Amino acid sequence: MRVDVCFTPAGLAPSEVQGRTAFVIDVLRATTTMCAAMSNGAKAMIPAASTEEALRLAQTIGSADVLLAGERNCVRIPGFHLGNSPLEMTPAAVRGKTIVLTTTNGTAALLACQGAATVYPAAACNLSLAAERAREAIGQGERLLIVCAGRGGAFSLDDAYCAGRLVAAALGGSKPRRGLNDAAIAGLDLVRRYGENWLRPLAYSRAGRELAKLGFRDDVLAAARPDAYPVLAQFSNRRLTLVPVSV
Ligand code: MLT
Repeated sequence: MRVDVCFTPAGLAPSEVQGRTAFVIDVLRATTTMCAAMSNGAKAMIPAASTEEALRLAQTIGSADVLLAGERNCVRIPGFHLGNSPLEMTPAAVRGKTIVLTTTNGTAALLACQGAATVYPAAACNLSLAAERAREAIGQGERLLIVCAGRGGAFSLDDAYCAGRLVAAALGGSKPRRGLNDAAIAGLDLVRRYGENWLRPLAYSRAGRELAKLGFRDDVLAAARPDAYPVLAQFSNRRLTLVPVSV
């Protein structure tokens, strides 16, 4: 078994990503926003590295069903249809739309994982499904990579706690230390430190405090609701689409 956590995508080499089953975490807020949009009927999401790239991609698709979404400094980019809030991704706003999304850290983390065998956005809002997929992947001998978006190339508590929750849920009851990198072990320690209540580490993190100060406290509360948007989306061919859930 191999489960590696990266607290930031900075310095992640293509060779470390290649062939892995990857989960990307930006719980505040990009991967929560992605799950909200896909859960509420968006057709696809396309991550862009910059505002310019988002505008270019939207123009290339050239359809009336394309929406531009994203933030800089947590605030909606001027001229864009939507910001980076899960609460904006209502069915009325996103159903049937292709959303080109650019955020400060989250979309960059997703793009950094492009060479992986499969890539899934994960957050509290889809943790059970992500963990189910992670358990299945471990069972099939796939090597897991969990990449936190972090903040500006540095550790972020909200993402690291979420990574710890995903590792814990993927391992189930077993407690193997072999096969986990140090960041995965530290993530498990954060889960022991903060317990099961998502709001504690999220609200306490720097991102959580900044979002609250900017008037986005409801987004922090929404991001702390486990399994609120129970979807698994897969990032391939530069777009996120829903993975059908088998019944
Ligand atoms: C990011 O990508 O850095 C975050 O999603 C920022 C935000 O909460 O808007």
